[in-house]
Amino acid sequence: MAVYPEYVIKEVAEKNDIIEVISQTVTLKKAGSSYIGLCPFHNEKTPSFSVSPRRGIFKCFGCGEGGDVIGFVMKSDNLSFHEAIKKLALRANIQLPETKSYDADEAERKKEKRELLYAINKEAAAYFFKSIKTSDEAVNYFKKRELDGKVVKYFWLGYAPDSWNGLFDYLKEKGYTEGDIYDAGLIRRHESGRYYDYFRNRIMFTIFDANGNVIGFGGRVLDDSKPKYLNSPDSNIFSKGRNLYSLNVARHSKSRTVILCEGYMDTIALVKSGYENTVATLGTAIGEHQAKILEKYFDEVVICYDSDSAGRNATNRAISVLRQSGKLKISVLDLKAKKDPDEYIKTFGRARFEAMYKERKPDMEYLIEYFGEQYNLKKSEDIVSYISDMTDYLKLIKSTVELDVYANIISEKTGVQVSSIISQTGMRKTGATSSRTATNADVINVVNKGTAVNDNKQYLEKTRALLLSTLFYDRKLCEKYFSLIDASMFENSIHIIIYNYIKECLEKGEKVSNTSLIAKFDTKEDINAVSGVLALDIQSDDTDKAVRDYIKQIKEKGNAEKAYELLKENKITLEQFNTMIKNKG
Ligand code: CTP
Ligand code: MN
Repeated sequence: MAVYPEYVIKEVAEKNDIIEVISQTVTLKKAGSSYIGLCPFHNEKTPSFSVSPRRGIFKCFGCGEGGDVIGFVMKSDNLSFHEAIKKLALRANIQLPETKSYDADEAERKKEKRELLYAINKEAAAYFFKSIKTSDEAVNYFKKRELDGKVVKYFWLGYAPDSWNGLFDYLKEKGYTEGDIYDAGLIRRHESGRYYDYFRNRIMFTIFDANGNVIGFGGRVLDDSKPKYLNSPDSNIFSKGRNLYSLNVARHSKSRTVILCEGYMDTIALVKSGYENTVATLGTAIGEHQAKILEKYFDEVVICYDSDSAGRNATNRAISVLRQSGKLKISVLDLKAKKDPDEYIKTFGRARFEAMYKERKPDMEYLIEYFGEQYNLKKSEDIVSYISDMTDYLKLIKSTVELDVYANIISEKTGVQVSSIISQTGMRKTGATSSRTATNADVINVVNKGTAVNDNKQYLEKTRALLLSTLFYDRKLCEKYFSLIDASMFENSIHIIIYNYIKECLEKGEKVSNTSLIAKFDTKEDINAVSGVLALDIQSDDTDKAVRDYIKQIKEKGNAEKAYELLKENKITLEQFNTMIKNKG
């Protein structure tokens, strides 16, 4: 891949006015020093999308999307960084330097081969589509499953005729070679050396990648014979573990929540009912690569698997995989009736599904209930097994607060103490040995302090962000006060990176730049978060004094916060905590 030098990227960002660029797609209205409009990245009726011309930053306070002018073009046009640079360079008449990576030829060849395999699969999809009308059986099957012409076209459904070489001959006639058709996963090779069609007498579901390339197929029998589904073999372009059915549709749905179901038919039924934000795995359990893909496009995943025991086990596994991946909020839509989403919606209708969708439960809440039903919680041995089952999942919780919440619910359900539930998970390691056992009064005391400190914590994070943002855009103040600040005043890794970046620029005598700072981050979440900091505008006539206040507050309040964190993690004793609070450090 081509890599442009940093000066070029900065020039591209500087010569493309963010207001002009965004105004091409969003109607912006001036509001104070910035502009506001309806966010193009989520559905809204009142504007929460703000653009600061002075800062060159956009930020939506509704959905969280944010970035500089390059980031905007990437998001709104679905372009890679490289493609966005090209587009903006063209717009501002900037000549991009020639770039060539050393293995360009090899990469180019691989890309060409992939393009060829996409083309062959696309041609095959056309063949399957055309073949529907050649078979009464197929036509009837579509009718029976309520798949009308519109759905067939939308999802590129089709039929593979009951023939050994229908597709093979068709593709050869189009000029493709045996080898390439084989690599596309559409034919098999017999021991005798003869090739024959992979899919025969099956209803065909076309599988696309996120960018809309045809990468493979799922084929269903029309009766009860086995195997019920046959999927394209993994190839250069297709991997069951790295793709999701209908992701190409779901990623453009504007919803930040995605429904994850098991099957092709389920996905189609949900999309038909207006849930375009639906995907399915491709006949395998969800894996870490798919979890990462979902994280890229969504904030929440709603697991909506079949309600039989296989589906329930798969739900539990999916929770583990998604939890381990880390970023997504996970919930479970439990259909209860012994049906899959396709049958459910056909039997009970959209309204009832929508009600279930709205009632979806956080994953841990679902598990607490699910395992609760497997045991008799009046029996002590069942309680032990129940806690043991739950512990496997509680271990996956990363936040101490969240763990507390669920440990409390389980404690109420079973009568087991919260502390022993938590200690089962191994989450709170005893770093410091308490010099005496804490009494109830001590605990209440600390909890009260904790609440106060927690309120503080939010305020403090905002103050830290304001300080960084003010110094970032005001070079004079920055030069005056930067020496009073040090990295230990920040906790959030994003703040620390911003701090270090400003420091580096000051040392080198360079101007700070949004674009160069943002380039230090590679996940969407981080870019949104850093844009959130940069978008903060100071509300003060006396910025000089404000900066001094920020620094003072961070230094004082930060100490109390640290003491509380240390206590919560059992790294200090109650006595040490009290001393720290009194001495302010
Ligand atoms: N699957 C598969 N191979 C099989 C069976 C299932 O790859 N032999 C995958 C398919 O992607 C299928 C999903 O698992 O869509 C769910 O399987 P199942 O619940 O059996 O099928 P449904 O999608 O419900 O299909 P239908 O309603 O037509 O029975
Ligand atoms: Mn089904």
